[in-house]
Amino acid sequence: MAHLSIRGARKAYGATIALSRGDFDLKEGEVHVLIGSNGSGKSTLCKIVAGSVRPDAGEVLINGKPVSIDGPRAARGLGIATFYQELSLAAHRTVAENIGLPELPAKGGIFVDRDRLKAVAERYISRFADVAGKGFSADTRVEHLREDQRQLVEIMKTLATEAPILIFDEPTSSLDRSQVERFFDVLRELKAQGRGIVFISHRMDEIFAIGDRVTVIRDGETVATSLISQTDPSAIIRQMVGEQGELAAADGAPPAAAAESSETVLAVTGLGGRGFANVSFEVGRGEIVGFGGLHGQGQSAVLRSIFGVSPASQGTIRLKGEERTIRSPREAIRNGLAYVSGDRGRDGVVHGRPILENVTPIHFLRNKLSVVRPGSLRERAAKPLSALKTRFAGYDQPVNALSGGNQQKIVIARWLIDRPDVLLLDDPTKGIDLQAKADLFALIRSLAAEGMGIVLYSSEDAELLANADRILVFNGGSVSRELKGADRTRYNLYHAAYEAA
Ligand SMILES: Nc1ncnc2c1ncn2[C@@H]1O[C@H](COP(=O)(O)OP(=O)(O)O)[C@@H](O)[C@H]1O
Ligand SMILES: [Mg+2]
Repeated sequence: MAHLSIRGARKAYGATIALSRGDFDLKEGEVHVLIGSNGSGKSTLCKIVAGSVRPDAGEVLINGKPVSIDGPRAARGLGIATFYQELSLAAHRTVAENIGLPELPAKGGIFVDRDRLKAVAERYISRFADVAGKGFSADTRVEHLREDQRQLVEIMKTLATEAPILIFDEPTSSLDRSQVERFFDVLRELKAQGRGIVFISHRMDEIFAIGDRVTVIRDGETVATSLISQTDPSAIIRQMVGEQGELAAADGAPPAAAAESSETVLAVTGLGGRGFANVSFEVGRGEIVGFGGLHGQGQSAVLRSIFGVSPASQGTIRLKGEERTIRSPREAIRNGLAYVSGDRGRDGVVHGRPILENVTPIHFLRNKLSVVRPGSLRERAAKPLSALKTRFAGYDQPVNALSGGNQQKIVIARWLIDRPDVLLLDDPTKGIDLQAKADLFALIRSLAAEGMGIVLYSSEDAELLANADRILVFNGGSVSRELKGADRTRYNLYHAAYEAA
């Protein structure tokens, strides 16, 4: 078995320093927890060890000897297997193929031995069969599986490598109790065999149930390692926040003093649906209301239901004081709502189409137009695009020629040609660079100042603290805490988010 060390690992993406100093040590036969707030650099550290990201500096040692990990194959050759947070499955392949294929040499170089494939996969499927739920079998194509079932397949795929070093980057975020418990049973067996396991999770109950040691990472730096038996959840949260962050008000811009008397543009009462329940809040003109908490606690689901993507089954939505039933995005748009997601692949740009077409569809919908003169559209589009400092060569340029940050500006600009009353932002800065983020938030702030009501869900805590006037912390599909005024601190945000659900 093997002992893994990482020394001084560093990685920057342009001006974003994802990891500034990663030091980490994994012994044989231990589960070593890595914990840090969203965006603190955990996945980057894992990817460096997995060979999918090349560090700018630092070294990785196995059993004390420096090794070169110049790609995923090299990592596997060194006995390192990784569960990727964003999953690494082939959607059109079956469960068995995803688990067994990477481990099987092709027969005669081309053909796969189907019987062996099944046998390899079955060994891992059987461990989880009774907790995997309906519709799960060796022959199911991954594209037909639910999110939790996909996570189970990624777990099985990682286990099937039988690697001495196993890295699990948020493997349990979609799993239910019984699935997590089964996974932990397996981890305990692996530990007993002397494997070294890195485990990332935000759930304190899980960390204390399975961990031997814990390393805290803050703003790209690994700041402390402790024995689980000698620490507790509040000590860990304090290390995540850091001394200066503990009592200080939120870093970044101070919240704008939203006028108390401002008109309420959006009022949601008792909203419930798939993945959330009993959500109530109000947004005033000029206000930026933040949604915080761990990933997948209902934040996106609430925004998407308000926008009519998957309408809520309970509760009421009032826009500018009037109750509305919104059954589709089209109705939402006609009622003055706008929605921007960070998932540009799913909700954003129309690939291969010119920029002008990408900025205009909302204008058509709101005005029920079927014909618009391109000349007048160009004029209308120019203002929001230049406010966003969008860099593009011409309106006829295909949108996918632009960087992610510039694509996102196009997506936002198309909502601004006709001003909505309420802008719903669903993790809008995912994967865009620092400068583009700064441009976006400057624009969002000025839109608020002009009277728009804004709801901002961000998966990066620093972004929320810097931009939201109030923060609603989501936990298990409901708002567990509201942070405003002097309560809007880093410590309180982490505390509310990381308490065991
Ligand atoms: N490919 C990338 N391009 C640009 N920025 C990135 C990329 N990957 C990560 N980042 C940024 O690096 C920081 C750390 O990200 P990550 O390691 O994914 O954090 P964590 O896993 O702790 O949430 C974040 O600010 C993130 O936005
Ligand atoms: Mg991550």
